[in-house]
Amino acid sequence: MKLFVTGICGFVGSSLASWFREHRPSFKISGIDNFVRPGSEMNRSILRSRGIAVQHGDVRNASDFENLSAVDWVIDTAANPSVLAGVDSRTSSRQAIEHNLFGTVNLLEYCKRVDAGLILLSTSRVYSIPALAGLPLIKAKHAFEWDNTVTPVQGASANGLTTEFSTSAPVSLYGSTKLASEFLALEYKHSFSFPVWINRCGVIAGAGQFGTAEQGIFSYWINAYAQKHPLKYIGFDGSGRQVRDGLHPNDLAELIAQQIEYSQAPAVTTFNVGGGSGNTMSLAQLTSWCAERFGKHSVESEPTPRLFDVPWLVMDNGRTTAQFNWRPKRDLLSILDEIANHAQRNPNWLDLSSAP
Ligand SMILES: NC(=O)c1ccc[n+]([C@@H]2O[C@H](COP(=O)([O-])OP(=O)(O)OC[C@H]3O[C@@H](n4cnc5c(N)ncnc54)[C@H](O)[C@@H]3O)[C@@H](O)[C@H]2O)c1
Repeated sequence: MKLFVTGICGFVGSSLASWFREHRPSFKISGIDNFVRPGSEMNRSILRSRGIAVQHGDVRNASDFENLSAVDWVIDTAANPSVLAGVDSRTSSRQAIEHNLFGTVNLLEYCKRVDAGLILLSTSRVYSIPALAGLPLIKAKHAFEWDNTVTPVQGASANGLTTEFSTSAPVSLYGSTKLASEFLALEYKHSFSFPVWINRCGVIAGAGQFGTAEQGIFSYWINAYAQKHPLKYIGFDGSGRQVRDGLHPNDLAELIAQQIEYSQAPAVTTFNVGGGSGNTMSLAQLTSWCAERFGKHSVESEPTPRLFDVPWLVMDNGRTTAQFNWRPKRDLLSILDEIANHAQRNPNWLDLSSAP
């Protein structure tokens, strides 16, 4: 089996490649990265030392795929994964679309040419921001909590969001490039008969993640807290009540392995994949966890909301569990512990993984 990973030196790409190296030793694993993500360069030699072939390549360049030999499966983890991609001062809207959507087209053309299956890593950010902002939530002391007393919402419950939840715009430029990528991937699947699995992932977290305030929040918060860097609760009254679930990349890898090895024609190919309702935490709760681990450090409040931020984003894994008997094995506390251990071993991690 030959596996090709785009964005292989990113957090998720390198974690998946390493997991497959260890758990599927007969697989030939290779990948490309354009090293645009600060810190990704560090993974190049680590992956090579594990017998994984890493080349420089940019998914935006169709010609970068020309000389690639045939593979059986492609895992697409190359992206600008920030919800602020294209609207912050770092990248233009065109650049975000080139990385996240035009890159998918080149990848689909490659899959078509070599008849490879595709695992597309999509995101919980394909879901409608106004619909997410309108979820029935109670303002509990330290976190937003689901309000069971109100009428049910289509595609959402205390268990999280299902794939039935609204994807109406606005979903952010990032979310819309992923949603458009999903549509194209399904279209190519039907037109050219190669297998496609789409995993809409919630927050993925673990040691070695390049964290910023906009992306990789668990890693960013723990590393910043450990170094007593200034931290701020932004929006939602500046209270830190916003909630996310957390998933370890090794759990995602186990799911992808099942998808690659799936032998029947599946009825559905799009799944929500996350830590789920048993693995959630608000920023305020994360601060309390950090205080126990690293001692006291104050967090400022900035009530003005951040663009595209939402109060509660939790994935309902119901469909994924029903199809694959898959559920996350790593709980959020063990993931936080792993990140904290890494932060203590790498006190300059945020400098290494932040933009120059
Ligand atoms: N980390 C999460 O919480 C999360 C959640 C949902 C979905 N995802 C998706 O998972 C994927 C991986 O995310 P991540 O957290 O590992 O991000 P990351 O930034 O750590 O990794 C992305 C990698 O892709 C590379 N890259 C970017 N543009 C490229 C291009 N044009 N050509 C080649 N390489 C390019 C970067 O250099 C980087 O190494 C993304 O598609 C992201 O949207 C991530």
